[in-house]
Amino acid sequence: TPPPHLLSPPLPSPSPSLTQDSQKLLCAQRAASLVKPSTVIGLGTGSTASLFLQHLSHLLSTASLHSIVGVPTSRKTEDLAKDLNIPLTDLGSHSILDLSVDGADEVDQEMNLVKGRGGSLLREKMVEGASKEFVVIVDESKLVPRLGTTGPIPVEIVPFCWEYTIMKIKELFQGEIGFDAKLRTVWDEKEGKEVPFKTDNENYIVNLLFEKGIGGDLVTFSDQILRITGVIEHGVFIGMATSVIVAKKDGSIVILD
Ligand code: 5RP
Repeated sequence: TPPPHLLSPPLPSPSPSLTQDSQKLLCAQRAASLVKPSTVIGLGTGSTASLFLQHLSHLLSTASLHSIVGVPTSRKTEDLAKDLNIPLTDLGSHSILDLSVDGADEVDQEMNLVKGRGGSLLREKMVEGASKEFVVIVDESKLVPRLGTTGPIPVEIVPFCWEYTIMKIKELFQGEIGFDAKLRTVWDEKEGKEVPFKTDNENYIVNLLFEKGIGGDLVTFSDQILRITGVIEHGVFIGMATSVIVAKKDGSIVILD
């Protein structure tokens, strides 16, 4: 055998590379472990939020946690919470929540968010806006330098004369290179064609596409969109998150606050 100084150095152990689903699970579990007993909690929507609900339910069933009551941000979350035996309430009974936990589609450096690509932005904004703390749980792919770079900004509009509302939105961004606004549709098996996607509130969604993300000030963007009659709400959440739990590929967790 060669003398020790000629032996090749041990190979560095490969750093774990978690899948996106494992990252979602990791941040969801961390958020659930932060929930205190006797809290009224806003329950988010989406795959990451669903993992959070599952973990919350597990803590409740093992009596590690008690007296939690949740406010769901969508019909889907309401159904899941019922299946998981998480007691529910609503904003009419609890107008101030202790905490909300939800995923996001994008998070920028100031913790502004894009939400609603799953279609639940209005209820999410209402519930999370009523919360003293709003904890966002994301895998690292959701971190972006500028909102609107990885996909559309969803805007909820009334179905009445939706073409007119889209026209007004297009007028607003007509100078913006590569901008487009499209009604979100889904395939209807029975009708054999694409039909408008309907939110839990029976409204439509318009997807705003920016080639290079939202340029300029987010508050101005928000004010201008909301001024269009026919627009109900948009999926940009400005200054609402109080912390963001980011699970990374290497298995570490970073908390922004
Ligand atoms: C739903 C949402 C979700 O929070 C967002 O789409 C993230 O979803 P996921 O955790 O599945 O990536 O806003 O309307």
